[in-house]
Amino acid sequence: MTALIVTESLFGNTLAIAEAIGGGIAETIGRASVQVIHASLAPAVLSAEIDLLVVGAPTHTLSMPNAGTRSDAARKGAPSPAPAGIREWIQTVQIPDAMAVATFDTSIHTRIQLGTAARSAARALRRRGARTTVGPSFWVTGMEGPLADGELARATAWGRTLAEQIVAVR
Ligand SMILES: Cc1cc2nc3c(=O)[nH]c(=O)nc-3n(C[C@H](O)[C@H](O)[C@H](O)COP(=O)(O)O)c2cc1C
Repeated sequence: MTALIVTESLFGNTLAIAEAIGGGIAETIGRASVQVIHASLAPAVLSAEIDLLVVGAPTHTLSMPNAGTRSDAARKGAPSPAPAGIREWIQTVQIPDAMAVATFDTSIHTRIQLGTAARSAARALRRRGARTTVGPSFWVTGMEGPLADGELARATAWGRTLAEQIVAVR
């Protein structure tokens, strides 16, 4: 089994969550079978050998980041953003029918979430024909972070569960 995690992160929090999810998946399938990659470097055609695709980004204006919100983040102190992220990648990627896909995001904790990057990414992936599950939001305590206490462990646990579910149905 192999897993690919495609992500973007302006301040680093989503990348840390992506690595923690990868760590959880690796507990089941081994570190060598898990790759975490920035969306701007992710392939447009996915190998049919990938069993699990996980896609995650920070929530920006209730949705996935776009060029304008990435520039906003840079104006607020984030390093220069990559030219593209998951929004642009999803628009071009070809995903094999059988691949299991799940999304996640990082968001500022609120009781009611009107929109998240995980939900927007799942909608966009489904429009491209991918069988997609909306995964959790992982909480940051402010725009730049840090992550709330316990979120890295929650991400590892979620990755572990995802991998176990895939293994169970194979
Ligand atoms: C332009 C911009 C818009 C944002 N909009 C939202 C939002 O609608 N909801 C939310 O919960 N957080 C919002 N945030 C906070 C981000 O979710 C937070 O910066 C992100 O989780 C940090 O992840 P990163 O370190 O990977 O960039 C916004 C941040 C920026 C820079």
